[in-house]
Amino acid sequence: MFSNTALAEVQCAAAKVACDIANGPIVPCVTPEEIHDHLASRYDFSEPLPLKDVAADVEFMLRKWQVHVTHPRYFGLFNPSVTTASVVADSLVAMYNPQLATWRTSPAANEIERHTLGWLAGKFGLPDNAVSHFTSGGGESNLSAVIVALTHTFPDYGEGGVRQIASQPTIYLTAGAHHGFLKIARMTGLGRCALRTVAMDADLKMDVADLARQVAEDKRSGLAPFMVVATAGTTAAGVIDPLPEVARFCRSQDLWFHVDAAWGGAAVISPRLRSHLDGIGEADSITCDAHKWFSVPMGAGMFFCRHRESVLKAFESEISFMPAKTGAVMDPYTSSAQWSRRFIGLKLFLALAEQGEAGYVRMIEHQVQMGELLRASLEREGWRIVNKTPLPLICFTRDGLITSEFLAALHARQIAWMSEVQLDDGDPVLRACVTSFRTTEKDIEWVVGEMSRICRQEPG
Ligand SMILES: Cc1ncc(COP(=O)(O)O)c(C=O)c1O
Repeated sequence: MFSNTALAEVQCAAAKVACDIANGPIVPCVTPEEIHDHLASRYDFSEPLPLKDVAADVEFMLRKWQVHVTHPRYFGLFNPSVTTASVVADSLVAMYNPQLATWRTSPAANEIERHTLGWLAGKFGLPDNAVSHFTSGGGESNLSAVIVALTHTFPDYGEGGVRQIASQPTIYLTAGAHHGFLKIARMTGLGRCALRTVAMDADLKMDVADLARQVAEDKRSGLAPFMVVATAGTTAAGVIDPLPEVARFCRSQDLWFHVDAAWGGAAVISPRLRSHLDGIGEADSITCDAHKWFSVPMGAGMFFCRHRESVLKAFESEISFMPAKTGAVMDPYTSSAQWSRRFIGLKLFLALAEQGEAGYVRMIEHQVQMGELLRASLEREGWRIVNKTPLPLICFTRDGLITSEFLAALHARQIAWMSEVQLDDGDPVLRACVTSFRTTEKDIEWVVGEMSRICRQEPG
């Protein structure tokens, strides 16, 4: 048994790591040679080494040579601080190593995942018979969406591939959509020319009039529009595309409506934010990552789809060496891209069970509040905010700013981790996203104060 003592030890270790990280540097300063030398001088694998020494050394390397994404002043790319329950979950999973490919092999783990996903599918407003599964991340979920949409729209795609489709299938998304779709276009055999870039309005949201214009034009030119990808929380600017309008358009044109809510999807559980995701329940498929705003360790993506038969058709597979199907249950290896399957969902289940829905809402709304404080503090200090979103992601700049130089100073002084982005072909701007439930008002005020000192060129 994973005894109470072991549990207490993991909790204690997780709390200590979190505390050490919060009080240490955020950004490493290291060359590849330094790490190569460290590894080469210690590990030629010729002799066994005591586990405790190797584990201690690995922890030394992780502490010293990594951007600490769980630091309260990491304002980065949706990599969250992690709940202790989710760390405990990953330890349990590693110890029991359940194989979730078939239901029969891991009935408990499969049902725990179903139960957790069912809860979130309900929040999105999907019907009871919607299909969902955990994935390695948003990239795999988006890939699943495209494969299922192709299978749904072009019945011969599964057997004959894209060459069997008489005209070029096309997908519509904005420049704000995740760049992983470029990989997906190649992986599915569609090719990058299948991606049609829809214009954005002044707030960087999908311009539905332009979408309609492009779809009509492409149909006239003999292309085969089949899918629209709306993003709920773009990576660069946290923008939510107009989901109800895109949903209506997709229904009117019989197009697959996919919502990439990899980060922003978690907002659906917040009474304060939910209305910003209105329309998501109309989606044919949804991507949402637990390893983003649900604050569990990577990799934990989720894929939801209302078309059960199309999912089964897209991933169908039967082979004699796999345990036989059990009654009406769905075997994950026949309904998802993965074969061998880790018990990904336990970290979300355990964290949710421990915090309760209300605890999760508090965590999410706290980060929104910290985002609002950051936005207000930056404006007060003369920064110009250039994006509009209810989510805690702020893009900002000021006259004469050279973003790369500013970020180099910010990182060298270990003030915070932020990044730069280019929105709509303009000059680069700074991007700060609150991703840690541990970020406090004090962190925000201190960071903004220190940023002003950099701008005044005061020594660090
Ligand atoms: C909107 C969006 N979609 C998809 C992804 C890809 O997710 P993952 O990195 O989990 O594969 C990201 C990653 O940040 C994202 O922001």
